[in-house]
Amino acid sequence: MARASVIGTGMTTFGVHDRTLAELFAEAVFPALDDAGVGTTEVDALYFGNAMGGQTENETHLAPKLASHVGMAGIPAQRFEDACATSANAFKHAVQAVESGVHDVVLVGGAERCTPETGLDTAAMTRVFASAAHRQVEQPTGLTFPGAFALLTKRHMYEHGTTEEQLAEIAVKNHYHGSLNPRAHFGRDISVEEVLDSPVVADPFHLMDCCPFSDGASAVVVVSEDAAESFDGDPVDVTGIGHATDVVPMADKAHPSTTQSARDAAAEAYDQADTTADAMDFAEVHDCFTGAEVMATEAIGLFEDGGAGPAVAEGRTRLDGDIPVNPSGGLKAKGHPIGATGTAQVVELTEQLRGEAGDRQVADAQRAVAHNLGGGAATTVVTVMEGRA
Ligand code: COA
Repeated sequence: MARASVIGTGMTTFGVHDRTLAELFAEAVFPALDDAGVGTTEVDALYFGNAMGGQTENETHLAPKLASHVGMAGIPAQRFEDACATSANAFKHAVQAVESGVHDVVLVGGAERCTPETGLDTAAMTRVFASAAHRQVEQPTGLTFPGAFALLTKRHMYEHGTTEEQLAEIAVKNHYHGSLNPRAHFGRDISVEEVLDSPVVADPFHLMDCCPFSDGASAVVVVSEDAAESFDGDPVDVTGIGHATDVVPMADKAHPSTTQSARDAAAEAYDQADTTADAMDFAEVHDCFTGAEVMATEAIGLFEDGGAGPAVAEGRTRLDGDIPVNPSGGLKAKGHPIGATGTAQVVELTEQLRGEAGDRQVADAQRAVAHNLGGGAATTVVTVMEGRA
C-alpha cells in the first residue's frame, strides 16, 4: 500500500547559475505543477528545503518569500534544514501530511546556490559547509566535508580492502551516466587515469572523486494515493520512507564506516514497503564523494559489506548492470546544490519509474530506492518508490 504518490516533477539544470534562489525555484515549480495537472490555487502547502541561504546570501525566512514568488502567498509554507538531507526531509513531511489527511496537495522541493556566483569561493564555501560539523569538537580541528568522508572511506579501505581504483571507477561510471543526463552539471566521460591523476583534495580523494559545488532547484507534487487519480499527472507511489540519525561528532560513532543511520533508515523504509533490497531495480544514492557511494550501497543492502568496490569494478552498477546506481549521474556528475538534492533524487526515481528517463532509462524499472544523507552521515532519509505499470 502506498503512503503517498508523486504526480509531478520539475527541476533546473544543476550547474552554475546567475539567477536568484526564487528564480531558480520557480523554474522547477511550474514544470512540476504542469506535469501534475495542478493549478497554483490547488496547492495546500509548500515544504521547502534550503540549508545554507542564511550564510551564503543572507536569505532566511525563505518559504513564505518563495511561496509569494510563485503566486502561492497565504498557504502554510515551511522551510526545512538538515544539511545535505534537507529536501528529503521536507519530502518525508509532505508524505506524512497527505497520508494523515492534514493536506491534500503539497508542493515540496528545494533550492540552493553554492557556486562562486554567490560571491563565495571554494575555500569560503567549504567553511560554510563545515557548519554541519560539530561546533566544539570538529570545526576547531579544521575538519571539512571532503576530510570527513575521507576519514570514513580510509576506514572502509582498511577494513575491506577497497581500493583507489575502485573509487575511481565510481567517478567514471557516474560521469558516464551524467553524460546521458541533459540536466547534469558535468556531461563528459572521464577515465580512471584522469581521476587518479587529478589533484588530491583529501586522501584518498582526488578532485574527480568529489561532487562539485552546484546551483539548482527541484520540485515535486505530492498527493494521497487516492487523490492521485483525480489529477492528470502519471502517479508514482511512495511505499516507504525511513529516517534515522547517528551520533555527532563522528569520532563517537561505534563503527564509522557502516553509516548506521542509513542502515536504520533503509530497514524502516523496506519494512514499510514490505520489500527488500534485492527487489530494487536501481538506486539513487548520496555519492558526495566516491567513497560515500561505496558505504551507501552497502548500508542500504545492495551489497554485502566490502562488496561494493568489486561490484563497481565489475560494471554491476552501470546503467546496463544488474543493479544500476545513480543513473542520473549522482551528486558526482549531476551536481549537488545541497537543499535541492533530496527532491532531485525523487525526480529521478519518478521519471525512471514512469519510463520517461530517455537515454539513461533503466530497463524495466518498477521499484527503486533513494538514499540522501546529511552531515557526516549523521542523518539519512531512505525512500522506496514503485511505478503503477
Ligand atoms: N568534479 C569534476 N570536475 C570538477 C569538480 C568536481 N567535483 N570541481 C571542479 N571541477 C572542474 C572545474 O569545472 C574546473 O574545470 P576547468 O578547468 O575545465 O574549468 C576545474 O575542475 C577546477 O575547478 P575549481 O572550481 O577551480 O576547483 P576547486 O579546486 O576550487 O574545487 C573541489 C574542487 C573538488 C575541491 C570542490 O568542488 C569541492 O570541495 N567539492 C566538494 C563539495 C562538498 O564538500 N560538498 C558537500 C558534500 S557532503
